[in-house]
Amino acid sequence: MAGLAVNVDHIATLREARKIHYPEPVAAAVLAELAGADGIVVHLREDRRHIQDRDVRILRQVVQTKLILEMASTSEMVGIALDIKPDLVTLVPEKREELTTEGGLDLIVHKSVVSETIALLQDSSIPVSIFIDPDPDQIKLAYQANADMVEIHTGSFCDATTTAKKEKTFSKIIDAVKLSNKLKLGVNAGHGICYKTIKAFKGLKEIDEFSIGHSIVSRAVLVGMEKAVREMARLIKEL
Ligand code: PXP
Repeated sequence: MAGLAVNVDHIATLREARKIHYPEPVAAAVLAELAGADGIVVHLREDRRHIQDRDVRILRQVVQTKLILEMASTSEMVGIALDIKPDLVTLVPEKREELTTEGGLDLIVHKSVVSETIALLQDSSIPVSIFIDPDPDQIKLAYQANADMVEIHTGSFCDATTTAKKEKTFSKIIDAVKLSNKLKLGVNAGHGICYKTIKAFKGLKEIDEFSIGHSIVSRAVLVGMEKAVREMARLIKEL
């Protein structure tokens, strides 16, 4: 049975919109774990636009399941990971101007630096995953770079608007999952997965874990709205 790792970056995005102390991503992580999450994911970006260093440090102490740190393959981030020791590092590409991680890490271009990062982290017993597109060449390169696992980018499938495109992109995911499994790489999957698209993955038993953020935080805002307004309305009535 596949696990669920919940990405709480968006809680920090909301906090940073006001530069104040709430909402607290650590509190969201605790609630996610209480609800059955198998792991908590945060992306510490170079520009610190949402998750801050202190979030990762506190999460390391508080998270009871496993802490997955998404990060770029840079010396700054490697230093932080070696210090904090997450349970898994997922290496992602990072562009300052992007709204979210746009594509998988291109190992044709970055294989040597990624291999060095993997070796450094593994030397400190930190397993490493690489976020890559569902492309057999990329998966073979992840294997050659000695990654422990890959996270298959599901964005093209989740964002596809026609049935033909959905079928084509999903068959690439199936092939990528099977090839990774054949190479004995662990397999996670993520990006853009929502309450509808998750259903397509039924029967794809080789996937270890789904990494999901946007749809869960979006749903949480709406299913919690009624309760939140009711509480404030009551406080105002009691004035
Ligand atoms: N996996 C990776 C590598 C990501 O960068 C993200 C987005 O932060 C996710 C999974 C989760 O994607 P989403 O927020 O669309 O569920």
